[in-house]
Amino acid sequence: MRLLLLTGKGGVGKTTLAAATGAALARRGSRTLVVSTDPAHSLADAVDVPLGHEPVEVADGLHGAQLDVRALADDSWDEVRTQLRSALVRGAGLDGLEAEELTVLPGVDELLALTEVQRLATGGRWDTVVVDCGPTAETLRLLALPDAVSGYLARMPGPLTKRSGLAQSLQALAARTGSLKDLLADPARTSVRLVFTPERVVVAETRRTLTALALRGIRVDGMIANRVMPAPGWWRGPAAAWVRTRRAQQETVLGELERSGFGSAAERLRTVEHRAAEPVGLAALHAIADELYGSSDPLGAGGGVDGAGEADDTNLAPLLRMSATDVGYQLRVAVPLARDSVVDLARVDDDLAITVDGVRRLIALPEPLRACRITDAESDSRGVLVHLEGTDS
Ligand SMILES: Nc1ncnc2c1ncn2[C@@H]1O[C@H](COP(=O)(O)OP(=O)(O)O)[C@@H](O)[C@H]1O
Ligand SMILES: [Mg+2]
Repeated sequence: MRLLLLTGKGGVGKTTLAAATGAALARRGSRTLVVSTDPAHSLADAVDVPLGHEPVEVADGLHGAQLDVRALADDSWDEVRTQLRSALVRGAGLDGLEAEELTVLPGVDELLALTEVQRLATGGRWDTVVVDCGPTAETLRLLALPDAVSGYLARMPGPLTKRSGLAQSLQALAARTGSLKDLLADPARTSVRLVFTPERVVVAETRRTLTALALRGIRVDGMIANRVMPAPGWWRGPAAAWVRTRRAQQETVLGELERSGFGSAAERLRTVEHRAAEPVGLAALHAIADELYGSSDPLGAGGGVDGAGEADDTNLAPLLRMSATDVGYQLRVAVPLARDSVVDLARVDDDLAITVDGVRRLIALPEPLRACRITDAESDSRGVLVHLEGTDS
């Protein structure tokens, strides 16, 4: 089973490209499910077949589903909310309404939708599950939940508190999302493809998502630039001038992306032209898939339709590399950074807390490094290099 998630800003073409990718996989004989977890469903429009919560056959070997995200925010999460609410009312003296507001955590619905995807993906019915997951960067932040909860429970004073209703429901939720995290962070089973349009603001957000996913240990296997202007060639007149200007701007943005230190990501860049007509229905989706993947495997890493990058399916997600020095160790945290990324490092007990543009990740220090102190750190586009010195105490 392979799980492929497409994410990106609203309106960039995630749904269209997820459907096209699913269609291409099914055509190659892979039993494929395309499932949307974005509450703003439009998968049914893209494939031009009515879809619901349960998978429906769209074409030979291709199924589609639109998850009812609301309905999934069920027992486990309701339980946490109820407990949290009463704790806030009793403990902090808030009234019911204030407590209600505080217990609406954004993204939890989508997180639970992903646990449903996990259920579908591990059920054995499909070889590949392609997820149109909406603008999920926020949701993936919640993947830190299991760690946060266990840390929180460990710090709760006294066995009584640990057995409280709140602790128990938090544990249940953490258990449910814990195995999801394992699936999503398994590079052999899961990868994410980032969809964007070549516009500065969109690219800036895409970079932040790339970094955030890397910090979460989730493999990003490629990027797709959608709605790239066709070359106006010999066209003349005001419309041609408009297209030419637009295309030149897009090329500038794509060029900047390549030079920005996201080289390895940009190498895996695929592009799709801006079509005159909305790509709706299987024929149009196959045409998009041909442009995206040609005859190469849609599950391979990018690098264009010739499949140049296919064999090199290396991970863009973080790697810890440790090496000994004269005085101690060097630890490399490989995470793609933009030139203007704001990086912060801190030592928290036996963990290294690394924060990039507001996204924080705790990395357990490998055993021999725990007795060391951090003396220096530097960063470049490929990550952070931490210098540690042994303490002879
Ligand atoms: N390459 C393209 N050329 C022309 N129209 C496109 C292209 N990609 C997507 N669209 C259209 O743009 C709109 C938004 O695309 P969609 O896939 O729904 O984006 P998202 O899922 O990211 O919100 C849809 O109407 C879709 O048909
Ligand atoms: Mg969509």
